Amino acid sequence: MATKFELSDLIRTEHFIDGKWVASISGKRFDVTNPATGEVIATIADGGEADARAATDAAARAFPAWRDALPKDRAAVLHRWHALMLENADVLGRLISLEQGKPFAEGRGEVLYGASYVAWFADEATRIYGDLIPQQQRGKRMSAVKEPVGVVAAITPWNFPLAMIARKIAPALAVGCTVVGKPAEDTPLTALALVMLAHEAGVPPGVLNLIASSRESAVPAVADWLHDGRVRKITFTGSTPVGKYLARESAETLKKLSLELGGNAPFIVFDDADLDAAVDGLLVSKFRNGGQTCVCPNRVYVQTSVYEKFGDMLAKRVAALKVAPATDSAAQIGPMINARAVDKIARHVDDAVSKGARALTGGKRLTALGPNYYAPTVLADATSEMQLSCEETFGPVVPLFRFEDEAEAIHAANDTPFGLASYFYSQDVRRIDRVSRQLEAGIVGINEGAISSEAAPFGGVKESGYGREGSKYGLDDYLSIKYLCQGGLD
Ligand code: SIN
Repeated sequence: MATKFELSDLIRTEHFIDGKWVASISGKRFDVTNPATGEVIATIADGGEADARAATDAAARAFPAWRDALPKDRAAVLHRWHALMLENADVLGRLISLEQGKPFAEGRGEVLYGASYVAWFADEATRIYGDLIPQQQRGKRMSAVKEPVGVVAAITPWNFPLAMIARKIAPALAVGCTVVGKPAEDTPLTALALVMLAHEAGVPPGVLNLIASSRESAVPAVADWLHDGRVRKITFTGSTPVGKYLARESAETLKKLSLELGGNAPFIVFDDADLDAAVDGLLVSKFRNGGQTCVCPNRVYVQTSVYEKFGDMLAKRVAALKVAPATDSAAQIGPMINARAVDKIARHVDDAVSKGARALTGGKRLTALGPNYYAPTVLADATSEMQLSCEETFGPVVPLFRFEDEAEAIHAANDTPFGLASYFYSQDVRRIDRVSRQLEAGIVGINEGAISSEAAPFGGVKESGYGREGSKYGLDDYLSIKYLCQGGLD
């Protein structure tokens, strides 16, 4: 059996349902394009309601046998899947770059990042313990056991086409759930390739099913899962409005939900910070995937006494970032995902400049490279009246806000309905303790810009959603607790 694949082997153009590649029941297809050039990469099956239903039928049929498989056997399948991902890391990285636009090094890095969740949950599969409850009455034994919730629907975004779906499928399969999935319409090819590798790794038919859908077909397809009582859980990464829609529409069948939603992350630089480290940390966290990351800092607060110096240091580094298509090995920032994304960035920057912001570097489209490129930008004199202070820009733009003291910085950082990631730089241990307690966020980076890890709980508070991915907590969302009360034991 071949285990190392060519790019052409991995480009799949049909849905994967019940262990087979199948066309859409409607016969419809849609184009997947390269954001760097606008060229069509593949024309693939466009899944609607009937395809979603067929996927659920398969997942529901496969559930009892997968639930009852020994945890070590499920773990072995996940370990094989992990090994295949590593063996094909280069080609998967190229596929990510092709359909998503990120530089190859980042695409390959994403493969390793996504694979790390698969390895993590393969190990966790064999460590799902219950409790024997201390005896309360003679003749009675009470215990709590954990069971897989059932069929899980995984709906994933375009910014990390491999890592996001891997970190949803892996815990689901580890605990014994079966999965129906739908990747974003911009980047379905990586998810289809990943499912192909899962099949090669021995995931049984029906246990993992994936449909791809265009923007138009996605709504009825997902609605079918939302209203189907056999789907017991939805796991979603994406925008807050869509998360709220999923919560509302799934309420009728009271599904379990994990929602990893919008961010608007603050990044605070106190005047006692190591400014070189803060610039390094900001570059790492802000410009990952060209700023198209839920945990990217969206608002950078800098204390007045170091404001000008920090702005100059940052602007020099940002101006030196190389923007180029993923095919250029020196590329550090690729194209944005599509025209809508670039239009939003331009709208935010134009609005900020019209209200008094100064571009220290960037501030324009890079049309010579193609329609989807935007220059890495630093904006000084940002204020809370500007759109970019309350909406996620999701692009390579750093607005610098000024603050006088700690209380003002914390108030500004928390003055948002969102609470996913937050970051701050300070060398004062007492301040570190105070600020990390007061920030309203699921994740706090303290003198650190690279926060993501398979071993850590990823997720937000407030309107950034609920549920955690990764870590020992990442299994809980896929499990329910059953209480067993056994009498007549005297
Ligand atoms: C995201 O942007 O939603 C995920 C980022 C990460 O896993 O670090």
